[in-house]
Formats: sequence, C-alpha cells, structure tokens
Amino acid sequence: MTRHQICLMAVTATSLLPFKCLSTIGSTACRLLHANTRTTYSRFSFLNQLKRLARIQFAAHHNSAEKLTFEKQPASWLFVNNTFGGLYGSHVNLELDLENRLSADNIKQLELILRRRGLPADLSSLVDDFTKLRALERQRNGLVSERNEIAEKLKQMKAEHQDHEPGYQAAAHELLTKLTSIKERIKDLQMIWDLEEQVMVRSLKLPNDIHPTTTDEESTVLREVNNLKGSAKTMSHIEIGKKYNLIKFSNVGPKAYYLKGALAKTELALMTSLVRYFQKHKFYFISGPEFFRTNIMEGCGLEVHNPTEVLTILDNVVTQIEPMIHLAGISTATFVAYVAKCCIGDNYLPLNMFSCGRRYQNSHLPGLYGANQTTQVGIFSCLLQEDLDKQFGTNIELIWNFLAPLGFPIRLTQVKAADLQLAERRRVEIQIYAPSLQKYIPIGNVSDLSDFVSRRLMVRHNQNHPDYRFAPMLHMISGTGVNVTALLAVWMEHSNTDLDKFCFLPLPV
Ligand SMILES: *[C@@H]1O[C@H](CO)[C@@H](O)[C@H](O)[C@H]1NC(C)=O
Ligand SMILES: *[C@@H]1O[C@H](CO)[C@@H](O)[C@H](O)[C@H]1NC(C)=O
Ligand SMILES: *[C@@H]1O[C@H](CO)[C@@H](O)[C@H](O)[C@H]1NC(C)=O
Ligand SMILES: *[C@@H]1O[C@H](CO)[C@@H](O)[C@H](O)[C@H]1NC(C)=O
Repeated sequence: MTRHQICLMAVTATSLLPFKCLSTIGSTACRLLHANTRTTYSRFSFLNQLKRLARIQFAAHHNSAEKLTFEKQPASWLFVNNTFGGLYGSHVNLELDLENRLSADNIKQLELILRRRGLPADLSSLVDDFTKLRALERQRNGLVSERNEIAEKLKQMKAEHQDHEPGYQAAAHELLTKLTSIKERIKDLQMIWDLEEQVMVRSLKLPNDIHPTTTDEESTVLREVNNLKGSAKTMSHIEIGKKYNLIKFSNVGPKAYYLKGALAKTELALMTSLVRYFQKHKFYFISGPEFFRTNIMEGCGLEVHNPTEVLTILDNVVTQIEPMIHLAGISTATFVAYVAKCCIGDNYLPLNMFSCGRRYQNSHLPGLYGANQTTQVGIFSCLLQEDLDKQFGTNIELIWNFLAPLGFPIRLTQVKAADLQLAERRRVEIQIYAPSLQKYIPIGNVSDLSDFVSRRLMVRHNQNHPDYRFAPMLHMISGTGVNVTALLAVWMEHSNTDLDKFCFLPLPV
C-alpha cells in the first residue's frame, strides 16, 4: 500500500469520528501520524499478525533481544533530531510547559514531585542546560531579525538608487559584509540543536504533577464494603478450573489459556452487559487498534525501551529505522491515538468513550490473575480542565455501581505517589477480595492524566478560536472499567465448589 492510500484511509477514518475535529493541526504531518496509528491494524493480515506475535515472545524472553531491539532507535520519537528529521520530519510540536515548570519559583516543587515518586530528583543540570538553551535562542533570534533588517535595507537601496550613484557601491558593500558576518554567526550557533535535543529528551521523562489527594506512605482506602467474605476452605480458580474442566492452560503461547463451558459463556455475558451498561450511560462505543506506533506509546508516558512495560514487535527495528510497533490492546493508547493532533469542539465535551476487547500485558500473578492476554473494558474521557474533578468522580461511581452490587468484598483505594505512572496525577483502584491470594486485587482503575498526554501529542479543545494552534490543552481521564478475566477468577473462587457440577455463586442482582 502506498503512503498516499494510507493517507486517504486516515482521512476517511477521521470523518467517522463521533465528534467533529474543528481542525487538525499542521495538516500533512497530522495525516501521516494518523496513518501511522489509526490504520496500522488494517495493514496486518491475520497470518502476519500471528507471525509477529511469535516475535513478541522473542522480545520478552531473550535478554539479548533488548539490546538488539533498541540500539538503532533514537532516544525518542516525539523529539526527532536533524539526522532523522530529513526522513520523518517532526510529527509533533512538544509543549512541555518547561518555561513554567523549570522556573526558579517552581523548580523546588518539581523536585519534590520527583522525590515523592521515587525518581532521581536532581534537576540542576537540566535547568542549566535549559537556561543556556533559551539564552542561545534569544541570541539567534536577535541575529535573525538583524539579518532580515539588513536584507530589507539592501533591497530598498537597490530599488531606490542607481548602481553608478556616488557612494552607493561603498554603502552596499558595507551592508553585504555585515550580512555575511551575521550569517556566519548564526551558523556558529548550530550547537543549539544538540542542546535542544538533550533538554527535550530529558524533559520528556519528567512526570505529571501529583494531585493534592495523593498520599506518600500508604495507599488510602476510601470506601469498603465487606459483604460475603470468602470462606476459608475455598479452592483457587486454577484448581476449580481443573476439577470441573473449565480452563485449559496451554503451551501455544506464554501463559495461554482457553475458557470452556460455563466460564466461556459467562465471559461473553459479562462483556455484553458491560457494553450495555456503558452505552446506557452515554459513553461512545468504539473499536480501536491493538498495535501502536512508538510516538503514541511515548505520548502516553510509557517507557518503550523497557520490555516488561511495553511489548514490542521486533521485525522492522533491525533493518529500517522507523517508529517501532507495539502490542497493547485496549488501553489508554487506543483512545489517545484516536484524538492525537485533533482540536475538539467544546460542545462535544465531555467526550466519553469506551471499548471492549483484549489487552496484552506482562503479569506475575498465578493463573488467570496473571494472564498476559485478558478481556477488558477501557473507558476514557476528554474534557475541559474545570470538569476534571467532577468527571473523575463520575467515572469512579460508574465502575463502582457496576461492581459493588455483585456482592463481593470490595473497596476503593487511592494509590500512593510512588505507585503512580509518569502520566498519572492520581489513580484510584476498585479492588475485589481474591480468596486464593488472600488479598484484594484491582479489577478496575481510573487515572487522572490532566493535560500530560495532550502536551505531547497536540490535543486541544476550542470554540471557534481564531487560531487553533493556541487553543487550550484538552484534559483526559483514562481507566479500566472491568478486568473481566480477573473478575471471572474471583467469582469462581467465591462460588460453592462442593457440588458435582460447577455453579457460579448467584449474584444478588
Ligand atoms: C540524533 O539522534 C541519533 C539517534 O538517537 C544520535 O545517534 C545522534 O547523535 C543524534 N544527534 C545528531 C546531531 O545527529
Ligand atoms: C507473560 O507473563 C510472564 C510473566 O508472568 C512473562 O514471563 C512472559 O514473558 C509474558 N509473555 C509475554 C508474551 O509477554
Ligand atoms: C487483570 O487483573 C489482575 C488482577 O488485578 C492483574 O494482575 C492483571 O495484570 C490484570 N490484567 C491486565 C492485562 O491488566
Ligand atoms: C488498570 O487496570 C488494568 C486492569 O487490571 C491494568 O491492565 C492497567 O495496567 C491498570 N493501570 C495501571 C496504571 O495500573
């Protein structure tokens, strides 16, 4: 498929959005980015996908793969330097708010945030480099405007005077010499590019702020309902699965499994009722890609060179240098890729979306709790800054009101600062008690991303703003409504397993 065709497909995809993009920012680059993200999925035949998945195994299992994968990759695909610039151009303009975050007034605050998250907190060299960068940029801008002035003067002289007029030659010569020397001095400032790259690549690793309600020592339990506590004699869902022939763990892939009989039917039923539930609450139902380009993953604040955090497909990395392809499934990336580089009209906000499908992720818990491939419902809201707190609460209540009536011991916790991801300002988890693990495990979660992703991927909102490039940043809330696979396992363990035939514990609703 040619790039042109891909562009066309991307344009068609855009016209199917549930909202209207007022305008996309920087149209050519924008279409390319969309082509790279939205249509990635359709470029794989099914067979190809299987082949590629085999390689993911490779990426995850061989330590040497890590070096092999990333040695030719640039430090970041969000800030692309001159060497790659020629090939790929710049996909996005980053607006990381450095002027403000690295200012003398705020730097202590930012260092505190890093310390609370357990990250290295010394920013002095970054601040130095940034100050130097800004000084050099001012110098260059000064020179550039001086250059333009002289060039303008020269043009005027040429228009108004004749070559043979007395004094003209000398004056023109003087200006020309000045012009040449200024051009030289601008050239000498090339190191700006290197410095800018250093500053931007490091700044991309700066985390989001921390919401005032997030604590440092312990995660806080906000709410707890202790109805039917798991009885002491429960079996684990793995044993139940064996005894009643409900789960087949298989070696076709790492931690692969098949659900059978009542379990398979219940998974489908749960998915159906979740879809109905979120539709009833006016969330748009979308079906999105499972593979993503590197720029989208980086936009979500993920560390793409860390194979336990992000699954990467290896094959294009070795021969060509281009953004990699990652497997994530239903996740923040699904929705972020959808709105990347868009400016959304204010009357479409809040824009609430959800999706239901597979998610791929490493996990170390036993059985279904730690399955690498699970069924999940992802929910996502785009909104104005002032609506952030309200919608955050709404999304939590939505998930809580689906899960709590099921009758399992359930609680709502807010995670501590050190457990937050780069993009998160705060996260709450809806946890259900898992008898076989003797602890609560998260079944759903809601993360406040504020404008962290928008600043990296140019997502804005606007109401007939004269220039959408300066429109305000969109704010985002992302989360998992229900980790269906984990919920099934919990439900099995809370069920009565003394009978001949397995029977799910009937739910109160
Ligand atoms: C640009 O990026 C590449 C890859 O990260 C790196 O090797 C190179 O040193 C960078 N700088 C320049 C000026 O090319
Ligand atoms: C699945 O998870 C296990 C850890 O539980 C990990 O060792 C393995 O690499 C994962 N597989 C994939 C494909 O990520
Ligand atoms: C589903 O939930 C379990 C239990 O909390 C968790 O360990 C697992 O990582 C989740 N699965 C995915 C793919 O997020
Ligand atoms: C939210 O929960 C889902 C399902 O358990 C999980 O896949 C995801 O990693 C969680 N998000 C965070 C930031 O922990």
